[in-house]
Amino acid sequence: MELKNLLLRKADGLGWVTINRPDKLNALNLETIEELRQAFENWRDDEEVLAVIITGAGEKAFVAGADISELARLDETSGREYARRGQELTQIIENYPKPVIAAINGYALGGGTELAMACHIRLAAETAKMGQPEVKLGLIPGFGGTQRLARLIGKGLALEVILTGRMVSANEALNWGLVNRVVPPDRLMAEAETLAKEIIKNGPLALSSAIEAINKGLDRPLDEALEIEAEIFGQVCATEDAREGTAAFLEKRPPRFRGQ
Ligand code: COA
Repeated sequence: MELKNLLLRKADGLGWVTINRPDKLNALNLETIEELRQAFENWRDDEEVLAVIITGAGEKAFVAGADISELARLDETSGREYARRGQELTQIIENYPKPVIAAINGYALGGGTELAMACHIRLAAETAKMGQPEVKLGLIPGFGGTQRLARLIGKGLALEVILTGRMVSANEALNWGLVNRVVPPDRLMAEAETLAKEIIKNGPLALSSAIEAINKGLDRPLDEALEIEAEIFGQVCATEDAREGTAAFLEKRPPRFRGQ
């Protein structure tokens, strides 16, 4: 796959995705969205990738939004299609069977906040700024922002963020639960790597099942959601990884998970 807008790297069980349009603050044009989609699909069954870390090139931005030069040309039909393309990518990431960590290294605005919200865990540099400034452009968030932000931080705060369009500091984002942790900029990538490596020590099928159970249950009534949990728990109990993990504990040795 020839990539114009991404840098991809695999090392020590991790897949690193760097959105690489620093002169446009890594704004997501359709080509970049398509490359991201392909990169995630290519790594879905790649045994060398147990978790993914996604970040932006340069010091300034994670992703400063969808590409406004493309937004400027949309009409009703193409606008709906544009939103669907972005939403499709965020759905792939949210339901990805391997943990995806966003390392938010600067501006994460509009599509940048939406991309980060689709990831399973968000780490932010102290200098990061988030927000959904679409209303300033006469638009609304279209890559899941009106839906995921309210689910993540609650309706009241989501409405404040989206209606003002203002930038949210990393510490505000932390207080609201929009990011998991805030770290000094020069520690961001190392923290993301340490966290990812802690996670991938665990059984890969357990990780994908936990993601699936949380995602499937979250918007259901509790009794239905618990039914989903019991079903997935049962499936996990039937895996070799579950045999291995429990046996290793009882035999007082580290587990050797094989993702089976
Ligand atoms: N789409 C397209 N291009 C973008 C962009 C976006 N979302 N965000 C930044 N850029 C481009 C700028 O046009 C500029 O390109 P140029 O050098 O060819 O003129 C370049 O990236 C650098 O941005 P600039 O605005 O000069 O940087 P800054 O430090 O002065 O401001 C921001 C940084 C993030 C405050 C500002 O770029 C901004 O407001 N961007 C748009 C954010 C937004 O509304 N995103 C939501 C879109 S839905």
